[in-house]
Amino acid sequence: KAAGSALMKNEKLVEDIIKSVVNAVNIPVTLKMRTGWNEENKNAPTIAKIAEDNGIKMLAIHGRTRAQKYNGDAEYDTVKKIKGIVSIPVVANGDITSAEKAKKVLDYTGADAVMLGRATQGNPWLVGQINNYITTGKTSKAPSLDKKISLILKHILQIHDFYGHKMGTQLSRKHIFWYSMHLDQEKGSDFWPNINRVSNHSEQYLKFHDFLYSI
Ligand SMILES: Cc1cc2nc3c(=O)[nH]c(=O)nc-3n(C[C@H](O)[C@H](O)[C@H](O)COP(=O)(O)O)c2cc1C
Repeated sequence: KAAGSALMKNEKLVEDIIKSVVNAVNIPVTLKMRTGWNEENKNAPTIAKIAEDNGIKMLAIHGRTRAQKYNGDAEYDTVKKIKGIVSIPVVANGDITSAEKAKKVLDYTGADAVMLGRATQGNPWLVGQINNYITTGKTSKAPSLDKKISLILKHILQIHDFYGHKMGTQLSRKHIFWYSMHLDQEKGSDFWPNINRVSNHSEQYLKFHDFLYSI
């Protein structure tokens, strides 16, 4: 009930949970949160301080309130504010979709890193492109389609191998969807109904293989 970002309403409970977790483990504990639960209650800076004071080693902030869900744009003022009041590393998150945007957010907030979610779905190469831009100031191209395809197929094989055929086939579906949509939205949408119910791992792999080489 009070899980996830709803927990931000109860700062005392947040503090108790942080203390318990930090005391229970011998590894660094990090905390990720939204900016607050709604526009009137953006208490991420207060929680950031509580977190730092109780042993959290790194913070990640998604620049939206809970009430916003995924609506509107992520803002980075709260990240900037938090960066100004804690000394542990702060990671900025939300709506970062390009190398240029990543650089802008880092410069504006002073954050130590950026975290990417949706923009990497089907496009993990973006992470390398961002890293390259931040470290060298130069933009770089994504790999060729052929290179992408061989890595994508390797990824699917590894999922089947690691999770086993049944669960691996189920878990591959979202990646197949994201990769297909990333490579060709129109063909990807047409392909999806043909593949999403396939339950045999070899059939899934072969159908996806043929789709990729038809792009
Ligand atoms: C499929 C999916 C699963 C997610 N799962 C989690 C999760 O388990 N824990 C969490 O803190 N955030 C989760 N998020 C939120 C993201 O970590 C991130 O904060 C949010 O998507 C905003 O970043 P983005 O604009 O780069 O996607 C998830 C997001 C997506 C799209």
